[in-house]
Amino acid sequence: MSINDLSFTAQLYGEGQFKYSIDDPRLPEGFITYHKKNFCTYFSIEESHFKKYGVLDTGCGPGKHAIVLALMGANVTACDLSKDNLIKAEALKRFYGLNNINFYQYDLMKPFTLGDSFDLVSAHNWMQHAETPSLVFVNLINSMKIGGKIYLSVYLAGTFRFFITQIARSILKRGDYQLGREMVKYFFPLGFKGFNNPDDICMENIFDDFFVPYCNTTTYETVLSDAEKSGCKLLSNIPDSSLLHNEDNLPLRVTFEKVANTVAHNSLDFNKPIDEFVSPKSREIEISIALASKAIEHFSHIDNPIMRVSFAMGLYRVRAETCNIRDSKLKHDRLRQYLELSLDPSSKAISSFYDTQTLHGIS
Ligand SMILES: C[S@@+](CC[C@H](N)C(=O)[O-])C[C@H]1O[C@@H](n2cnc3c(N)ncnc32)[C@H](O)[C@@H]1O
Repeated sequence: MSINDLSFTAQLYGEGQFKYSIDDPRLPEGFITYHKKNFCTYFSIEESHFKKYGVLDTGCGPGKHAIVLALMGANVTACDLSKDNLIKAEALKRFYGLNNINFYQYDLMKPFTLGDSFDLVSAHNWMQHAETPSLVFVNLINSMKIGGKIYLSVYLAGTFRFFITQIARSILKRGDYQLGREMVKYFFPLGFKGFNNPDDICMENIFDDFFVPYCNTTTYETVLSDAEKSGCKLLSNIPDSSLLHNEDNLPLRVTFEKVANTVAHNSLDFNKPIDEFVSPKSREIEISIALASKAIEHFSHIDNPIMRVSFAMGLYRVRAETCNIRDSKLKHDRLRQYLELSLDPSSKAISSFYDTQTLHGIS
């Protein structure tokens, strides 16, 4: 990752994540319960036994999941690239009065030097943002003892979320980020609560998907094959992913046990995003791909950032409005209407679709 990519990633997450934590650091009870259960399931360990384990939480962001592990009694080492996020994490640690957790600033693309004998390693929802996730994977495996377990939650390719994301990322430029932050309110004047999907449809998610320098989606096949080449044995169940295209989003979650020492990362495959436009699963998706390709060609050559950002925010609205519909045809029909209208030569097309006339006030 270049210095620019690294510092932009750190800035984006430092600014965007869990902003209220310093004023009101309490984690919602539902969040704690959900993640305790998730860790017990994926590590296959009862909650009362976590106190026996040394856990490394990686890409810990503002520390929410690391704190849950510490509340379960584990001895936690947690690290992240973003200093701003670590300030929030330290505030959480103080709030809960914990002394079994330590936070460090660390770029996990570099070989890990904070320990090599962790019992458990967690990489919850961040490895996809590394330039080369397979290199991070090898670094994390090297931090564990033989017999240790690693849990990954990463971006699964093939859902509607990443179809939309691929279109937006092909158009937006990094310099559009601040304008994007200002324009969200015109496309979501009532906020995000109405979409009833607070984890997946929210401000943080837009910037995570559309602007973060690396957004590497993957498949179970790739992760399993990389793990096998890295001396790891599968411990968790693999879901049937044949109807993935009906889903708005599904994380790829998996646990492995380290059974042998690791190979070099360059024989591994989780190192770039999957192309969401290959192998269309239906006629509707084929139509979406053709129209999306035209829209990318059109908007990526437009010099006006307001036009680019408006188009991308409109795309996110299509996703938000269809996120609870598990029917690929309906999702792609809605997307097709939006893309056709956006390609309409009338300059008011996007604003008439979403009634965002107020946008014209922005210069
Ligand atoms: C989407 S957030 C996830 C944070 C947390 N795990 C969660 O689920 O709330 C991604 C995090 O990965 C961190 N990150 C990205 N690249 C990193 C790297 N190379 N080394 C360490 N952390 C990194 C970012 O700073 C950010 O806090």
